[in-house]
Amino acid sequence: MKIVVNGVSGLDQTPGLEPAMALAEVTFAGDVAALANSLPGTEILLGWDFRGNELEECWPQADALKWIHWCGAGVDAVLFPALIESNVVLTNSRGLFDRPMAEYVLALILAQAKGLPLTLEKQKECIWSYRFSERVDTKRVVIVGVGSIAREIARLLQAVGFDVSGVGRTERDGVPVFGHVRGEADLLNEVSTADWVVAILPGLASTRGKFGDKFFRAMKPSGRFINLGRGISVDEEALRHALDEGQIAGAALDVFQSEPLPHESPLWDTPNLIVSPHMSGDYEGYFEDISRLFLENLAHYRGNKRLLNIVDKRAGYVRD
Ligand code: OXD
Repeated sequence: MKIVVNGVSGLDQTPGLEPAMALAEVTFAGDVAALANSLPGTEILLGWDFRGNELEECWPQADALKWIHWCGAGVDAVLFPALIESNVVLTNSRGLFDRPMAEYVLALILAQAKGLPLTLEKQKECIWSYRFSERVDTKRVVIVGVGSIAREIARLLQAVGFDVSGVGRTERDGVPVFGHVRGEADLLNEVSTADWVVAILPGLASTRGKFGDKFFRAMKPSGRFINLGRGISVDEEALRHALDEGQIAGAALDVFQSEPLPHESPLWDTPNLIVSPHMSGDYEGYFEDISRLFLENLAHYRGNKRLLNIVDKRAGYVRD
């Protein structure tokens, strides 16, 4: 059995993956040329770089490919029409990011409520900037997206005392942690009473530009917006305008339309905006956990058992 690990060039970059070497012939393909060379006769592709999009170019060489395991939660980078139409099974790393991202959201909300960015700024200037901060225990958070990461965010925020509700594609009952969730049609209405809106949507044609001018106008002037899903869901110009004009009180973006965020982007200096480098799900030990999940799924594959985290390639995510 042959496995190609795409996006890295050696075992030193994939901690925890060593046991795979005894089970299969493993090659590493750090660029398109290496991938094209490795693919013929290869059954399994481990996509180590969740932004990697080299497979489409090498698709004619993928003559024996049966399974792709993707190291990210979002599979937008790897999906292309021929793969969607094919019998190749795609799995992702759903689950690994739930807790770290929930912690990250909590950190951002507390930083905003307690004014930490201003405190740090004033400290640099040696200025004693005494002021009141906000309590969060009665605040209302609307989470847009109700998948496994969203559920963990909701669980953690509920434990702190927030009033949390969820907006999914359709209105329905019985969604774990959330219970009843509203559908897209109610989005603007829901966010009009939110103190925080947390967006955690996949990068799909249907989510492109979802958070634009109309959306920010629907929020309260004291509301804040956090995006940890994909940059394409936010109209960055509209967000900047909303912050500049005081339509909303603050925002935090961990994902952007263009990554790394270009040095000349006006977002870096936008008032009341926290910019972070797409890191909300990545934690110390995360590579080892990726390897562990892949090895567990490899055992399923070798034992002809149903794989974990099978992505519905047409939908672009793992269905419940
Ligand atoms: C992902 C990510 O895993 O955005 O999809 O980090």
